Amino acid sequence: MNDIPKHLFLRRELEKDIAQLPPHAQLPTERELTARFEVSRMTLRQALGGLLDDGLIYRVGRTGTFVAESRISKDRSLTSFTEDMRTRGMVPSSSLIDAAAEPADDAQARDFGLEPNTPLARIERLRLADGIPMCHEVVRVPLRLMPDILTADLTGSLYDLFGRHFRIRVASSIQRTRAISLDRPIARWLMVPAKSPALQVRRITSDTTSQVVEIATSTYRADRYDFTHLIRRQS
Ligand code: GLP
Repeated sequence: MNDIPKHLFLRRELEKDIAQLPPHAQLPTERELTARFEVSRMTLRQALGGLLDDGLIYRVGRTGTFVAESRISKDRSLTSFTEDMRTRGMVPSSSLIDAAAEPADDAQARDFGLEPNTPLARIERLRLADGIPMCHEVVRVPLRLMPDILTADLTGSLYDLFGRHFRIRVASSIQRTRAISLDRPIARWLMVPAKSPALQVRRITSDTTSQVVEIATSTYRADRYDFTHLIRRQS
């Protein structure tokens, strides 16, 4: 398993501290924080940058860094593979295995809220991190929503493509994760022995208008991938 990057670990630690502080309380100085957590200034700045982006803290010129009023951060958990790997400090890439049109079967039609046999694009890719197979992925999207997707460049981020090319912005997913043992074809793509353990994630994703835009099955090598979530209890 990859260890969680230092700055993400630090960010979580700082979040715990911030949760104990009242709004507008001043955070310790950079010097104090680097000494206390035994991290470099760069790691600290990366962690603080994340907290700033999430609106958990704010800066006042050279005076210091303070706890923000509203400490409910933006939910960033609906990430793409590309974002997920970058957050882990890895370089994502993809190779296209197959892209073709096919009719929706009954279950897919129900999940999309479409008639059976409605044309879908089926995109099968191998997703790599630092050049090593990480995930085998099959994504289906309705061709009606993304008519020329099969001729687009499918080796980059699909979520970027949805946004740039089709003006479709993903907003929420229902995601189910289960442990599986790999069948031979997928094991071969992932370059591990058949029957190796894997995590399979099924995502049904809706856009900002609440229409279902994607059904995806992503199968991750269990020896290379773990899920890390920030979870909060709302008071
Ligand atoms: C994850 C999700 C998929 C989604 C993909 C998009 O892997 N499980 O449902 O299609 O991200 O990633 P990208 O935008 O990098 O192609």
